[in-house]
Amino acid sequence: MVPSSNIEKRSAATGALKFVKDNSTIGLGTGTTTHYFILGLAELVKQGLNVKCMASSIDTAKKAMSLGITVIDSYPDKLDAYFDGADEVEPGGSLIKGGGGALTREKILAYNSREFNVMVDSSKVKEKLGIFGVPIEILSFGINFTISNIERIGGKCSLRSGFASDNGNPLIDCYFGDIDNPALLESMIKKIPGVVEVGIFNGMTKRIFQGKGKEYILKEV
Ligand code: A5P
Repeated sequence: MVPSSNIEKRSAATGALKFVKDNSTIGLGTGTTTHYFILGLAELVKQGLNVKCMASSIDTAKKAMSLGITVIDSYPDKLDAYFDGADEVEPGGSLIKGGGGALTREKILAYNSREFNVMVDSSKVKEKLGIFGVPIEILSFGINFTISNIERIGGKCSLRSGFASDNGNPLIDCYFGDIDNPALLESMIKKIPGVVEVGIFNGMTKRIFQGKGKEYILKEV
């Protein structure tokens, strides 16, 4: 039997696929929800949709190419849209991302897209961000300094052992309890030298596609 969260991931992806425009350039996220989006996109491409994609991870690039989707490395303008999952989403559209460790490339693509469409199953929808923790990509150099500085502002951090991002960097998961002000916490963490990127995404989400069984709910932010 397919787990209900997977059914909802697919429903959310089905909703988001309706917002892919012909002759557009889009960003592809990473993870199990984006997986369903990529499968659906490949079907549309087979039916004649013309789309060029930038991938947020090596995994996603390989998957998309293997299904016949055109993947490009760079683009001289903003992407038309970015499509990705999230680990947590709150009513204002702020997100926690990075469960799969691709947060830096994901944030680059989200920031450089005209719109960001988020696809989630209902377990990801929260009143406040925080339970999942905040994934943070950091440099290996000075790692203990960086972790101590994050702990000084209230995070309890653990290193993801045996993990390196596509950029070759370690990742830590930090717990701050309920996050009342995601924008403030994001900027406080980003100021710490050695931090490459923070898995808090603020002010970027345009639409949230929330799976609800085999249907989806669309929320505009
Ligand atoms: C990848 O680094 C993440 O940001 C994912 O987008 C996020 O973890 C959601 O992943 P799933 O769709 O697998 O739950």
